[in-house]
Amino acid sequence: MSASPAADLPVARVAASARLRGEVRVPGDKSISHRALLLAALATGESVIDGAGDGADVRSTAGIVAALGAEVERRPGDGPTVTYRIVSPGADGLRGPAAALDCGNSGTSLRLSAGMLAGLPMTTTLDGDDSLRGRPVARIIEPLRSMGAELHARRNDSLPPVTVVGRTPLRAIEYATPVPSAQVKSAILLAGLRADGRTTVRESVATRDHTERMLRSRGVPVERTGSADGEMTVTVEGGLTVQAVTERVPGDVSAAAFWLVAGAIHPDAELVLRDVGVNPTRRAVIDILRSMGADIEERPVGGADDGVGEPIADFVVRSSNLRAVELGPADVAAAIDEIPVLCLAAAAATGTTVIRGAGELRHKESDRIAGTAAGLRALGARVEVDGDDIRILGGGILDGAETDSLDDHRLAMTFAIAGLVAKGVTTVGRPSSTAISYPGFFDDLERVRA
Ligand code: S3P
Repeated sequence: MSASPAADLPVARVAASARLRGEVRVPGDKSISHRALLLAALATGESVIDGAGDGADVRSTAGIVAALGAEVERRPGDGPTVTYRIVSPGADGLRGPAAALDCGNSGTSLRLSAGMLAGLPMTTTLDGDDSLRGRPVARIIEPLRSMGAELHARRNDSLPPVTVVGRTPLRAIEYATPVPSAQVKSAILLAGLRADGRTTVRESVATRDHTERMLRSRGVPVERTGSADGEMTVTVEGGLTVQAVTERVPGDVSAAAFWLVAGAIHPDAELVLRDVGVNPTRRAVIDILRSMGADIEERPVGGADDGVGEPIADFVVRSSNLRAVELGPADVAAAIDEIPVLCLAAAAATGTTVIRGAGELRHKESDRIAGTAAGLRALGARVEVDGDDIRILGGGILDGAETDSLDDHRLAMTFAIAGLVAKGVTTVGRPSSTAISYPGFFDDLERVRA
């Protein structure tokens, strides 16, 4: 993997930067890249995915698709992206792999693949690294079982590895997700493609809708009703064919979030971000930062927000005076991967930020509530954690310190960005995790500080 040299060291050192300038092209969206690969496996013939992310997580999904018998070619794309060409025999031609499928560190690879495999006539085991082996899977096992697939997992069916004995056809179900999770919703929708009727997922809070858009763009109608800040219902018809397509993946807004925060909290910054996906179910981080007073200019540059495509924009972010914000459970679901870096923004803002109902963050690549609080406290921020709620007393000055990413990419990047504004030098323990979603992160960091 082409990670920056800084990421290969046990500890990355980030000194305060006098100014931040330049243009960043972030990696291809990780969520969309995973889905594009899995849907390419289900479609018969050639699919081309341009602009895909090249992080380790997306590579895990590409490895799964190859192990199931599709031809997978990966070549350099423009900027930090790669192009995949997948030639698949289609859902009914895939074969059971000889060994367990390795999901590495990737919860999305595991949960979405489990949904896809539930409807295929084969037995597979999905496994991963130590972090993945600690992440909850009962949330997918329960609905997929009720559709007729057989699933088993470690510790009373709660933790990976997960063995999936697929069934065709599955039973169509109507299911209300107990936690807002696009991974759970997507797993059920992928299984629903192979079910004997209409499968409906109800979610109390809307989560990212890439799967819905991408199914539509492949000829499978998906109904979505409700409002983004209330209950959402998503229905897919079983038994329809997923078509092979050529598509372009937009830049990852979750990666762009690090630069949006860097630009906003640094006293002398102007950063330009190109080709960032601004899907309404993903853009909460931008709107939250703006509501905090961030000077973020947005220029639409393409794509379509028509329920099928993905809207894309360029951004300019400049030094800002941030104010505290209050976030609730719907905001947490909408900005689930950006909460750590939003906590950094809150530490640099005036006033007390309160984030309520952030419990899902404990089930990510690390316990992100504990990890974020520990890192920001080391840097001198005042952070209080009360159950699933986080309070950040902003306005203090950050001092360079030793931080630990807990081998979690989003924490590594959050603390590295903090290092650009904190006095002196900040060290980030275990920075190699940045390669999970953003292999060139430290190269971009060096460029914008130059
Ligand atoms: C993802 C959904 C979210 C997110 C993850 C990617 C997806 O997970 O945290 O990084 O691609 O569907 P949950 O659905 O578990 O919240």
